[in-house]
Amino acid sequence: MTSSRKARLVILISGRGSNMQAFIEACKTGQIDADIALVLSNSPDAAGLATAAAAGIATTSIDHRRYESRKDFDAALVSTLQKYQPDLVILAGFMRILTPVFITPFAGKLLNIHPSLLPKYPGLNTHRRALEAGDREAGVTVHYVTQELDGGPPIIQARVPIEQGDSPETLATRVIVQEHIIYPIAAKWQLQGRLQLDEQGATLDGKRIPATGIDYVQGIE
Ligand code: GRF
Repeated sequence: MTSSRKARLVILISGRGSNMQAFIEACKTGQIDADIALVLSNSPDAAGLATAAAAGIATTSIDHRRYESRKDFDAALVSTLQKYQPDLVILAGFMRILTPVFITPFAGKLLNIHPSLLPKYPGLNTHRRALEAGDREAGVTVHYVTQELDGGPPIIQARVPIEQGDSPETLATRVIVQEHIIYPIAAKWQLQGRLQLDEQGATLDGKRIPATGIDYVQGIE
């Protein structure tokens, strides 16, 4: 990235895009010094596309059902994204498993948010699984994307208590609030050049990040 141009984000969504909206806000308020160059969905019907368009952001969809293989779909994603020269690619509820065809070209600048305290509960139905296991807390993790599903090095984690009578929905409502806080923080760190991905995991300001990520506490930025 040169100092003469503003950093560019590309955000990939599949659904309502509330995390994407948190990025729209973060760019508007200046918390993140970047422009959102493109919001892309694999689903043409994703509600978040309309939200982004209403905010004046370029949108597109690449329907995975039109591709014979994951690799073909990923190649189409790469060729579209490369036109926008993203400094950072944000997966925000993007419900496709990605192959190395996509991950390799963006390695080290590809982030995901996963609604569990990784390494617990990679994959789907995280809140239901936390409740069924009798956990007393749940949470969310922002992590680098590597080829292991939901297994890349964690950057930051936020915890919430599990309360008596919680359902997956009530728990999700508590967790999403934290998602919208920690994802822009991690992106900001990345754009400031404070985060690095290496063979051992991730570092912030040259210090090794713990295996479960930095614990979010209010005031961290
Ligand atoms: C979030 O819970 C995120 O953690 C998960 O998918 C959901 C997306 O929600 N990866 P939204 O579309 O950002 O509202």
